[in-house]
Amino acid sequence: MARRKIIAGNWKMNMTPSQAVALCAELKDLVKSDSVDVVYCVPAIDIVPVVEAVKGTNVQVGAENLYIEDKGAYTGEISAPMLVDAGVKYVIIGHSERREYFKEDDAFLNKKVKKAFEAGLTPILCCGETLEQREMGVTMDWIRLQIKSDLVGITADQVKKMVIAYEPIWAIGTGKTATTEQAEEVCKGIRECIAEIYDQATADEVRIQYGGSVNAGNAAELFAQPDIDGGLVGGASLKADFGKIVNY
Ligand code: PGA
Repeated sequence: MARRKIIAGNWKMNMTPSQAVALCAELKDLVKSDSVDVVYCVPAIDIVPVVEAVKGTNVQVGAENLYIEDKGAYTGEISAPMLVDAGVKYVIIGHSERREYFKEDDAFLNKKVKKAFEAGLTPILCCGETLEQREMGVTMDWIRLQIKSDLVGITADQVKKMVIAYEPIWAIGTGKTATTEQAEEVCKGIRECIAEIYDQATADEVRIQYGGSVNAGNAAELFAQPDIDGGLVGGASLKADFGKIVNY
């Protein structure tokens, strides 16, 4: 069974609501595709206007974060039911920027993955090593630890539906892409880890993206790898180039 590719933009903290609507209009025809899933993961304040702007197109909307409670006294947070009600389908969990700047650890991220599934959202769970870890030769150990910890209590059926994004931290926003071999090696390793925790059928179904300086020039080669099922795209998702990546 061939896995359907999924190309997601991670807008990060970019685009005011009016800029977001303008970007959706600019990209509308460029990101048309029958063969891949296209997702815009956007800042919370852009969700409502972007859901409206992509209505009737092939684009689905994702959030960049969620909180682990459904409602209550958590000033500044946004809940899974809020996202679902607004029309969100995907949610990025555990991006390295959240892990680093907002001190989100694996135990907390595991709760977020559970909450996303409980609400019917598809998690895009990020993992990735630092340059130091790569140079020490512990990349795969580190990523296996992240994956195993973040998926505690998650069933095989849930894993089959989710997306895992491998994003080497040293390649994010640096213009320094992992080589195709490096990206494939780790994505394959993640799939083997899933086969170990669950079974081969689950490993065969879960979609694994590569992220880290994906652009119109390197997307085709990366996405042609047997274990890379698309990309999580930061900088290049904010411009017309994103259409070229979708239609690699
Ligand atoms: P980048 O970001 O494409 O700008 O490197 C990727 C990401 O952080 O998801």
